[in-house]
Amino acid sequence: MTGSASVEHAMPQALVVGASRGIGLGLVRVLLTHGWQVTATVRDTARTPQALSELQKKHDAALKIVDLDLSQSSRPGELAGSLSSRALNLLVISAGIMGPDHQRAEQANREETGELFDLNAMAPLRLARALLPAMAPNGVISFVSSRMGSVSLNNLGDRELYRASKAALNSLSRGFAINEAIPAGVGVLNLHPGWVQTDMGGGEAPITIEQSATGMVNVMEDALGQVEQRFLDFEGQTLTW
Ligand SMILES: NC(=O)c1ccc[n+]([C@@H]2O[C@H](COP(=O)([O-])OP(=O)(O)OC[C@H]3O[C@@H](n4cnc5c(N)ncnc54)[C@H](OP(=O)(O)O)[C@@H]3O)[C@@H](O)[C@H]2O)c1
Repeated sequence: MTGSASVEHAMPQALVVGASRGIGLGLVRVLLTHGWQVTATVRDTARTPQALSELQKKHDAALKIVDLDLSQSSRPGELAGSLSSRALNLLVISAGIMGPDHQRAEQANREETGELFDLNAMAPLRLARALLPAMAPNGVISFVSSRMGSVSLNNLGDRELYRASKAALNSLSRGFAINEAIPAGVGVLNLHPGWVQTDMGGGEAPITIEQSATGMVNVMEDALGQVEQRFLDFEGQTLTW
């Protein structure tokens, strides 16, 4: 083994899903500076955003970019097959959408609800299930959820479709954690990134991508070896379901 290959071998392994922009891209950036070997997914590697290409130039072999469109239900199994033989210490599923602008149950058609609930709730579960065998013992699977997915903290009732999709993610991930991940020795986090300055969060959001991603990476690194499920924000505060 060459010197650089042996260094690579010692690095912890992370897979970040939805890394083209926003919080996912921020997580890749922070994980690389913390010494992780990162596989980052984008929908189409032929259109990899410049920011991610530049990170790859800077970090070379520590960053691998692969394509994954979460709306294609066959892809999780294919991705699991194409990963390196090194077990994953961390899987972060950040990809998500807000859903239709109207955000009203009575206005939503089947196509809108199908896309929103499939991408925000079903697809993360399909992927986590497909990749559980690739996880290292004491590793962590992180679902990027939202405070808006908490039923008990919903005092406003706005954005009802998005809230319901994240509540569905929280519910599905509970069953997955209890029945599959925890028995396999893998922890599960449902993470609220804060209200963050991304395309989704908008310019009025108080938290920068760097603040959110730095906090989330610290929370995830602290969670390695803790084989339980928790719903935490980017500062490590517990949220009620
Ligand atoms: N921003 C906030 O304030 C906030 C607050 C709470 C929770 N969150 C959650 O945090 C996560 C990231 O949000 P963000 O603010 O970073 O959003 P964003 O800037 O809108 O980025 C969304 C990401 O999801 C990817 N994506 C969308 N559809 C996809 C698909 N079918 N397959 C694969 N990837 C897909 C996008 O890829 P493309 O570039 O290809 O579209 C992009 O990388 C989401 O789950 C969101 O619900 C965000």
